[in-house]
Amino acid sequence: MENGTVIISGGAGFIGTRVAPRLLDSGRTVIVLDNLHRQVHPDGAWPEALDPRAIRIEGSVVELDDWLAAIDRSEGDISVLHLAAETGTGQSLTEARRHAGVNVLGTATMTDALVNRNVWPTSIVLTSSRAVYGEGEWLDEDGRPGAPDPRTAADLDQMRWMPRIGARFAVHPLPHVAKTVQPRPTNVYAATKLAQEHLLNSWCSAMGVPLSILRLQNVYGAGQALSNSYTGVLTFFATRSVAGEAIEVYEGGGILRDFVHVSDVATALVAALDAPGALREPVDIGSGEGVSLQRVAEIMADLSSAPAPIVTDRYRLGDVRAAFASIAAAQQALGYRPKVTLQDGLTELLSFARS
Ligand SMILES: NC(=O)c1ccc[n+]([C@@H]2O[C@H](COP(=O)([O-])OP(=O)(O)OC[C@H]3O[C@@H](n4cnc5c(N)ncnc54)[C@H](O)[C@@H]3O)[C@@H](O)[C@H]2O)c1
Repeated sequence: MENGTVIISGGAGFIGTRVAPRLLDSGRTVIVLDNLHRQVHPDGAWPEALDPRAIRIEGSVVELDDWLAAIDRSEGDISVLHLAAETGTGQSLTEARRHAGVNVLGTATMTDALVNRNVWPTSIVLTSSRAVYGEGEWLDEDGRPGAPDPRTAADLDQMRWMPRIGARFAVHPLPHVAKTVQPRPTNVYAATKLAQEHLLNSWCSAMGVPLSILRLQNVYGAGQALSNSYTGVLTFFATRSVAGEAIEVYEGGGILRDFVHVSDVATALVAALDAPGALREPVDIGSGEGVSLQRVAEIMADLSSAPAPIVTDRYRLGDVRAAFASIAAAQQALGYRPKVTLQDGLTELLSFARS
């Protein structure tokens, strides 16, 4: 059995509610610091999914006093699982201050609170995002690797979906590998996640605090806020197909994503908390496979006896064409092995959407 306290910022959210019971079962005290953001919790109430054993502090990560309240309620060694964030990718381009305020200032406020109470955590675990990679790395027509530029409206209007590396089109996406692929954020949310990484990297190395950064691919599963129109594409697909409506799939259906089930993500986060110092650099957490949105939409339509998906040439500016991860580093450092198959995970998500 473990002891000590884990403070989970944003612990009332989708991922936090799945991690909390595992930490409590391991013998730790869990303190959730969450402001019950209305975009995620429309009624402003603590979610039923949050384990009743967790200590709840309603407060914001940008308020020093709220962090101090969480630290003061802690017992024994303290670790922090920093989940709280503004997560609207497209939204971040028009509400940059809100995203930067919570994600960057909120992280800096955490470090100030720890210094204020002279607390040096056993471990800090940060959930970063695959969004930091932007278009990532691809091979061009001649098999040469390169980092494409963000796609332009002019190209997308012409249904030229592949990004360009200089003057040439990229043809083959490569997996995200934190050790070798340079982050190149293409929206403010992504930039703030990268800023969180830099901020904590510098503070933790100066203070000798073990830091684990996990760059998550697209997380899905029961418990995702279906009412939040800014969350993942699968919640949108799920609500459409359980309503018996055809799912509309953009960009000719060929957008590639790596969907990782929330219980596998929870396992990875607990493994990181259990092994402070095991990660010397960020690792990627996904299923390890890219799947086209058309394929996912077909599986969901099939599982819910909804009409076949409608593949269109619509697009959303700012979306990347392909994102999937190599999970080799996480396997090696954390023993991470995702267990939930896409078929099983989608079945669970659909039954959650139905209920
Ligand atoms: N879900 C994904 O697909 C995914 C992918 C990559 C990275 N991430 C990262 O994982 C983390 C958790 O994501 P999630 O899917 O559980 O999101 P979520 O929106 O379900 O949960 C976030 C929680 O943070 C809380 N919160 C928001 N602003 C806050 C503030 N100012 N102070 C305190 N609490 C605040 C919200 O009320 C919510 O309960 C985020 O850092 C996100 O960037 C998620």
